[in-house]
Amino acid sequence: MLGSKKQVNRRDFIKFLSGGTMVFASSTGLNLLTSCSTFSVDFPYIKASNQDDVVLAKGLNYEVLFSWGDKLNSKEFVGDNNDFISFKEIAENEAILWVNHEYTNPLFSSGLERSKSNVDKERKLVGGSLVHIKKNDSSQKWEMVKESQYNRRIDGTTQIPFSNGVEVYGSKSAIGTLANCAGGMTPWGTFLTCEENYDMMYGERAEDGSLNTKRSRLKWWKHYPHPPEHYGWVVEIEPRTGKAQKHIQLGRYCHECATCTLTKSGTTVIYSSDDKADEHLYKFIAKDKAKIGRGVLYVANLTDKKWLPLDLELSPILKKHFKDHVDLMINCRKAAKIIGASPLDRPEDIEVDPISGNIFISLTNNKKKGNYAGQILKISENSDYDSLTFEWEYFITGGEDSTFACPDNMAFDQKGNLWIATDISGKAIGKKPYKSFKNNGLFIIPRGGFSAGRAYQVASAPVDAEFTGICFDNDYSHLFLSVQHPGERSVSKENPTSHWPNKTGIPRSSVIQISGTTLKKIMG
Ligand code: FEO
Ligand code: CA
Ligand code: CA
Repeated sequence: MLGSKKQVNRRDFIKFLSGGTMVFASSTGLNLLTSCSTFSVDFPYIKASNQDDVVLAKGLNYEVLFSWGDKLNSKEFVGDNNDFISFKEIAENEAILWVNHEYTNPLFSSGLERSKSNVDKERKLVGGSLVHIKKNDSSQKWEMVKESQYNRRIDGTTQIPFSNGVEVYGSKSAIGTLANCAGGMTPWGTFLTCEENYDMMYGERAEDGSLNTKRSRLKWWKHYPHPPEHYGWVVEIEPRTGKAQKHIQLGRYCHECATCTLTKSGTTVIYSSDDKADEHLYKFIAKDKAKIGRGVLYVANLTDKKWLPLDLELSPILKKHFKDHVDLMINCRKAAKIIGASPLDRPEDIEVDPISGNIFISLTNNKKKGNYAGQILKISENSDYDSLTFEWEYFITGGEDSTFACPDNMAFDQKGNLWIATDISGKAIGKKPYKSFKNNGLFIIPRGGFSAGRAYQVASAPVDAEFTGICFDNDYSHLFLSVQHPGERSVSKENPTSHWPNKTGIPRSSVIQISGTTLKKIMG
């Protein structure tokens, strides 16, 4: 299906901008009016598909860059269920990718029995990979540099210190990072990786101090009684050395992402969300330049349009409930509710619009409240990113009219087009009320042109899979994408629901690169 060419729809373009006073066009280097008046959309898009493949719009093609199990060096290999991807250029046509490995499916990777040897295999499959890539001169495609000194795993067994020498549950370091979902890149070029559903591995502390293992599907606690307090943090990784630390002051909860931006005066602000129904949206305002060591964490109250401080001095009511700052950071969810944080419909990925400066937050769904298709929330800070008041509105709502449901991962390209990947859960795909959406997909909401402000599907994921980690290279000629959990609903290795990326055998989560004339056209 090919769309017809039309001029910019000014009203739809304004939709990206409205809802507040914050327009930073001049600070981004992008000229708002030029972009608005010249960009028109004329690109192919696809219909929903249930094929077991990455189905792409005409003029787009993909190659698998690497898959779970591929060798990084003589000792290490790529982990499972890749999610967030971040691109750090280190020379011309050369970069280090960080790729999250959120969890693993024991059916394919280890074995369903919760034995120590199976758990040991799984602990090596989560965390993340640092992967050195280079562009091939003749093909102009990115390729892994095998055996590179930069290729490295940070996994569920790596010892990682807590920031500022802080002790958490009796230790200054944690064993491993896990449940790494989305993340971010700091203004100084380090990667941030976020620990999301950590209770899947080590459970959660109950109010009475016992271990609550209700959501602990992988049951690693059976063999390794690591305290749950050691997980649920934002972890900073140095691209070249792999040096890691867990940042206490960004709080502990099911961190989806850590999206960084700078105020006009150069203060680092990090937005993050807690991916659970009725949990919250947070932002951290750093005290020092180019460091996250000190600062204040805030949580959003949408009714009063205010950021509320999670700090014992600034919110003294918290002194009654928490013995010190570390105790407060460990129990962010509880503290957020005490000071009046707004419950949200599963807040997931967050992106900063490069043109308007507004903050876009995916609200994936909240089934118990009847919100099945989710929406995207837009926040406009009053004056700057360190403002403690804001305006908000819904930018777009999922559903049959908007062609997508359950928005999760997002990215803006340099033209200000918004790319969205959907996350309809494996067990819900193809069933009511999600039947018409078929497999999960990748959508683009163009900034201008006839289709401005509407979602168009440009890729469809293999059976049971979700696209995650939307990431462009430095010149926007390639789009890196994680294909996560293909064949997730399989009940046997012999007869999996997906074989992707192959035609036979068990499925393998992989990172792909997408390029082609349609991407060139979109990037103008
Ligand atoms: Fe790991 Fe919220 O997705
Ligand atoms: Ca996600
Ligand atoms: Ca998700």
